[in-house]
Amino acid sequence: MQRPLVIAHRGASGYLPEHTLAAKALAAGMGADYLEQDVVATRDGALIVFHDLTLEDTTDVRDRYPTRARSDGHWYAIDFTLEEIRRLSAGERRQAGTTRPRFTGRYPDGAGRFGIVTLDEELAFIRGLNRSSGRAIGIYPEIKDPGWHRLQGVEIGDRLLEVLTAHGYSTAACGAYLQCFDAEELQRLRGRTDLPLIQLLDSAGGIPSAHSLRQLASYAQGIGPSLKLVLGSRLVAEAHGEGLLVHPYTARRDDLPPGVHSFDQLLQQVLADAGSDGVFTDFPDLVVDFIRRRFPAGE
Ligand code: G3P
Ligand code: CA
Repeated sequence: MQRPLVIAHRGASGYLPEHTLAAKALAAGMGADYLEQDVVATRDGALIVFHDLTLEDTTDVRDRYPTRARSDGHWYAIDFTLEEIRRLSAGERRQAGTTRPRFTGRYPDGAGRFGIVTLDEELAFIRGLNRSSGRAIGIYPEIKDPGWHRLQGVEIGDRLLEVLTAHGYSTAACGAYLQCFDAEELQRLRGRTDLPLIQLLDSAGGIPSAHSLRQLASYAQGIGPSLKLVLGSRLVAEAHGEGLLVHPYTARRDDLPPGVHSFDQLLQQVLADAGSDGVFTDFPDLVVDFIRRRFPAGE
């Protein structure tokens, strides 16, 4: 059995605020194989590494720009220039619209000073880290809501490909996977890039049928299903039958799926029993440790 990949979900986000360079460096040091980048656009067309379309749940935007929310009460990244976004302080995720932490016991909100970086900056950072460490840590960018960005006037998938190409990520085996929930966007990009494409699947969509998996395999190299779709199902085996890789999301020690009683049990089911090819995790050190124990070198 191949050793599964450890994909650091927003970095080592179980320990440091998500998508900060500190969280990415920690994940690399912990032995992650890939570092994830969620990508959204700013008003002036820059691409930033940031999970939400809106800024208020992981930054101090409410305090710094109190009058800049839209009428729906949200501060959208695309309404701010990169220079304005650079003035924000990024921190630990809060429950939507509140000051309460999303995960109690993680890094304290407000401790330390972290900023938001552009995709270009993060890719340069990873290149430097790979050089100084002698490793070849890969990247795993996600195009966030391309349909919404298109309505705002930004073809984010095309912009993303430009930045990736400028950094040397353009071929099937260059150490990058490109992921998106939007099947139409991935099909559109299939004709524009040789990068391996990963179709994300949320639990609301249910387990894909054999027909869907076959159709999906015509444009993607793999799927990134919610853990809920993998646990207790034959999805991994069926996807493998279509030649698709399977990288489920998101393994969290502090947010186990229903019916799972420990992080080790979760990894046993997803990686060892089901045979997933990798997993997105907020805790890369724990997954690296599990893989060392359960997938000895050479197997
Ligand atoms: O990209 C895999 C996983 O990260 C998808 O969910 O919301 O954390 O981006 P999300
Ligand atoms: Ca993601």
